[in-house]
Amino acid sequence: MNIVLMGLPGAGKGTQADKIVEKYGIPHISTGDMFRAAIQEGTELGVKAKSYMDQGALVPDEVTIGIVSERLSKPDCDNGFLLDGFPRTVPQAEALNGILEGMSRKIEHALNIQVDKELLVARLTGRRICKVCGTSYHLEFNPPKVEGVCDKDGGELYQRADDNPETVTNRLEVNMKQSAPLLSFYDEKGVLTNINGQQDINDVFHDVDAVLTTQV
Ligand code: AP5
Ligand code: ZN
Repeated sequence: MNIVLMGLPGAGKGTQADKIVEKYGIPHISTGDMFRAAIQEGTELGVKAKSYMDQGALVPDEVTIGIVSERLSKPDCDNGFLLDGFPRTVPQAEALNGILEGMSRKIEHALNIQVDKELLVARLTGRRICKVCGTSYHLEFNPPKVEGVCDKDGGELYQRADDNPETVTNRLEVNMKQSAPLLSFYDEKGVLTNINGQQDINDVFHDVDAVLTTQV
């Protein structure tokens, strides 16, 4: 199953992606995670991506398309994949289409998680992430059992560098500009489904799963 997971920053893409990959056993390909790993490793890609991410801007299309194209060629993608946070612009969507056509494949589901802007700001500024396993928590909406500590492995929780209020505002504006034409792109292909992201995490997954279990 080839899936694209869309939604504005904080909509819950990463949270739902964890559940989807657990159930369907396909690789989770998050461009944001790939860029953060490159920053951590201090690679050339990381240095380039950081300058954009710190401002809440998009990393240029050619850079982003390049890393996704390379990743999709890996054998673990042969039985499907979940793209999280890519494509984010129409040129990225067109490039993805071209890459998949070359592999005689296509996107079967484009899921768009919808959440109001005010709630997104609260979700992002209150998010805390485990240093060990990367699980996202929220100070108010999804708190760990013990403050500052991951439920799964006792890892320390930290705040992402781009989750401060100023960067969050810019991220939302930048992504909102790109969103409508991107949604039209997948709607015209007949694969778009909007998901109500303003429900409990498990209820959102219930709706996501209902779409994925229907025959294409
Ligand atoms: P990326 O890492 O993709 O970040 P994002 O799109 O800004 O999305 P987030 O990861 O912040 O949010 P999410 O939707 O995954 O929400 P989450 O599940 O954590 O990108 C970062 C940057 O990289 C970009 O700004 C850009 O610079 C660059 N980049 C990445 N991809 C790119 C591309 N394709 N092109 C160009 N540049 C690119 O949930 C958020 C919080 O809410 C958590 O605390 C969670 O616990 C809570 N929560 C989740 N669901 C619920 C719920 N149902 N109810 C209550 N709380 C919930
Ligand atoms: Zn953890």
